[in-house]
Amino acid sequence: MQAIETHGFKIPLIGLGTWVLRGRDCTRVVTQAIRIGYRYIDTAQMYDNEAAVGEGVRTSGLRSEVIVCTKVAPERLAPHDLERSVKESLSRLRLDAIDVLLIHWPNPRVPLAETLGAMAKLKHDGYVKQIGVSNFTVALVEEAVKATTEPLVCNQIECHPYLNQDKVIAACRKAGMAVVAYSPIARGSAKGDELLERIGKAYGKSAAQVCLRWLTQQDIAVIPRTSKVERLQENFALFDFHLSDAEMKEIATLARNDGRLVDWSWSPKWD
Ligand SMILES: NC(=O)c1ccc[n+]([C@@H]2O[C@H](COP(=O)([O-])OP(=O)(O)OC[C@H]3O[C@@H](n4cnc5c(N)ncnc54)[C@H](OP(=O)(O)O)[C@@H]3O)[C@@H](O)[C@H]2O)c1
Repeated sequence: MQAIETHGFKIPLIGLGTWVLRGRDCTRVVTQAIRIGYRYIDTAQMYDNEAAVGEGVRTSGLRSEVIVCTKVAPERLAPHDLERSVKESLSRLRLDAIDVLLIHWPNPRVPLAETLGAMAKLKHDGYVKQIGVSNFTVALVEEAVKATTEPLVCNQIECHPYLNQDKVIAACRKAGMAVVAYSPIARGSAKGDELLERIGKAYGKSAAQVCLRWLTQQDIAVIPRTSKVERLQENFALFDFHLSDAEMKEIATLARNDGRLVDWSWSPKWD
């Protein structure tokens, strides 16, 4: 499995997203993904599916090989609440520890140093193995690195060809953080893209695979979500072809000013 190494920790280039998957369907998809070879599963307190994800991981029989990432909800970032919320996550997941714990969204009402301090304590106490962030901008990445001595392994951000994220990607790399791309196939819309389809034809690959390959070839980890077994397989088959420099550049021209898909009232001011 190809991976990004950061602070001695390896993040697989391909993982599984689980947002909106629920209950038995979610458990089944997680178990099937692990059987196919996925070793990184992404969930969050906000997804209301930690119990189903944990069950899927345990059912696979491969718990020790799988990295489970969950994210703390933005309203639970004050130290005492964060600690309580992580213990609640662990009892829903029914796992020994959380492999990667991320701040899901920044919350300007809670000092970042306090949140990161609480996360570092949970790591030292063995509840959590690695910590990181999500939806952090350049300024927030810089602030986070100054606010803790604990390694931050990744920033999970929206990333696909329709959104130029060069600035924040550069900031993550400078800070020694891996970039994990969420909505990596633009919530499925890469599927009908003419350019991606045309490039894929030459390799016998789908538009979604070209889209995911474009990211992983830049050392960006991807966590596509699907509810279908055949797509689990399709999204995993990314490492038997290579896009040329010209194709990489051509795909980058798909970026648009209105390409961002995930934007909420609580989003930070994007770069
Ligand atoms: N940190 C954050 O704030 C944040 C925000 C958003 C998402 N995320 C994480 O990132 C994960 C992925 O992002 P996402 O769920 O927004 O979007 P995505 O993975 O880009 O797209 C998912 C959609 O694409 C379809 N799809 C999957 N594989 C396909 C393929 N090979 N061909 C065509 N269509 C395909 C799926 O439909 P089917 O189910 O029908 O296959 C689904 O509708 C989430 O599940 C979540 O874990 C994190």
